[in-house]
Amino acid sequence: MCGIVGYKGKDEACDILINALKKLEYRGYDSAGIAIWHNNKIAVGRKKGKVDDLRKVISNGNFKGTMGLAHTRWATHGEPSERNAHPHRVRDVVVVHNGIIENYIELKEKLRNEGHKFASDTDTEVIPHLIISHLDKGKDFIEAVRLTLKELHGSYAVGIMREKEQIMIAARKESPLIVGVGNKEFFIASDAPAVIDRTNRFIFLEDNDMAVFRDDEMFLMNTDGEKVERKIHTVNWTGAMAEKGGYRHFMLKEIFEQPRAISETLLGRFKEEKGQVDFEELALPDLKKVKKIWMVACGTSYHACMIGKHMFEANLRIPVETDIASEFRYRNPILSENDILILVSQSGETADTIAAMKEGKRNGVYTLSICNVLGSTLARDADGVIFTHAGPEIGVASTKAFTTQISVFFMLMLHMAKKLGKMDTDEIRDMIAEIKKIPHKIQTILDHISPLEELARRYMTCKDFLYIGRGIHYPTVMEGALKLKEISYIHAEAYAAGEMKHGPIALIDENLPVVVVSPRDQTYQKTCGNIEEVLARRGRLILFTDDPSHEMADRVDAVFTVPETIYELLPILCVVPLQLIAYYIANLLGTDVDQPRNLAKSVTVE
Ligand code: M6R
Repeated sequence: MCGIVGYKGKDEACDILINALKKLEYRGYDSAGIAIWHNNKIAVGRKKGKVDDLRKVISNGNFKGTMGLAHTRWATHGEPSERNAHPHRVRDVVVVHNGIIENYIELKEKLRNEGHKFASDTDTEVIPHLIISHLDKGKDFIEAVRLTLKELHGSYAVGIMREKEQIMIAARKESPLIVGVGNKEFFIASDAPAVIDRTNRFIFLEDNDMAVFRDDEMFLMNTDGEKVERKIHTVNWTGAMAEKGGYRHFMLKEIFEQPRAISETLLGRFKEEKGQVDFEELALPDLKKVKKIWMVACGTSYHACMIGKHMFEANLRIPVETDIASEFRYRNPILSENDILILVSQSGETADTIAAMKEGKRNGVYTLSICNVLGSTLARDADGVIFTHAGPEIGVASTKAFTTQISVFFMLMLHMAKKLGKMDTDEIRDMIAEIKKIPHKIQTILDHISPLEELARRYMTCKDFLYIGRGIHYPTVMEGALKLKEISYIHAEAYAAGEMKHGPIALIDENLPVVVVSPRDQTYQKTCGNIEEVLARRGRLILFTDDPSHEMADRVDAVFTVPETIYELLPILCVVPLQLIAYYIANLLGTDVDQPRNLAKSVTVE
């Protein structure tokens, strides 16, 4: 979590940093800070709250200079407060940090014995103290930083400056950090959208890399003191993609971007005449030998995995196990050489998902990541990667990432089905034709949203919601419930509809809205039975279906109909109105939709 940005160039750093920090706020937003270097002095400003609160602190004109660092925090060690906000300054050294220093207690103890005094409750503060300790022992600045980084256990992305020298140093280990290369200017940032309006050329730092910005140049080395070379990548995202573009919130914009995002996901993948979906770049293992496929992720991405499991098992007849990434390694999973481990992550930086990938690699299985962010850890370190091409997702609540991930699973399933001879050319062609219609069908939903706004008004005061669905719709309702709870703070629980009778039915009365997803597919009859059970207990039902003549339509509180499609793709269509209902309720309640309390977009701590 936490967002870092740095600038060294020819222009005033302050505005550049604040604008970039604003775009990183989704990573954490409980406090923010800035440090600007000018003529051997560093001005530091810090504030509890958001970047806009920090603006007041720096409005005094003291923050002038062409080199600086800034940080937006998601608290791990120490409450959100000014004293715990970054940058942390010790004497003339300032540091911004994202990650967790696992051995900070031990390091603090050692430094205290050397006479160092600490001013915050953070793990980060040991970093400037260690640098000072090495400087005091006669090391130069770069060497002092290098030795300090060698002493840290855990994860870090850091930006460091010192008053006495016009040098900025950035480094990373297991936390994201990229270097932006502009025209006689350099940037460091936790991700590309932060500075995409100034450059689209990036170096993706690798673990233990240090970038040293001195004079008009930058050089790279590692923490062993060796020079390293890294390629400059050009990213095809634009500044406008990271703006709200007239929408009230990023989340709403991203919901509306889904038709375009999915079209991008599908682009260039199909050889329709051959009934083929192309993933040849992956060098997948021999699929005939694959005994099991694992799908592992967190949050929304995990729900996509559950949908992937339904698709794969039904069509490939290969057993699939899904796991929440934070649980995966603790159960000592029995991975075998011929398994495939699929890691799904919008950011590609989720710490638990990265840990799951490492578990897979240790066990010698082929790891495949499905990611949105180019240059992210999962994208770089997995054996194969499929990009979702959804464009930057800024809203903390994941929306277009989810529907593009499902689209990737669908295409991958078709690719594998062909290789395994599980589907013939015509079947695959028909399925390709279905997914190609999905962007248009989502657009149809988005063109008829006023009933959803109306529903939101009717239900916004409810304190609890139950979401139910069967089969592939169970993960869909889990996703719907997650959307509602994370942005509106209303308690919402998702259940497999058949599980209702095993406990949660006790909750049902005339006050509890029950959201049910019940398309006309193999789950239809049984879910109708569950709807009856809710009605018998005077529950209030909101039905989402693809069937305009659903037999329960007249007996429920409200119905919303989505276009028809095949079973595997229904989650994409059904989740869109669930995203919108959550959005409208949160908006009516006046919560901070894009940056809901206690959350951060990218969870880079385990
Ligand atoms: O970047 P990732 O897809 O790995 O993130 C995983 C979860 O943190 C994320 O999906 C989270 O659950 C979303 N905020 C939900 O909207």
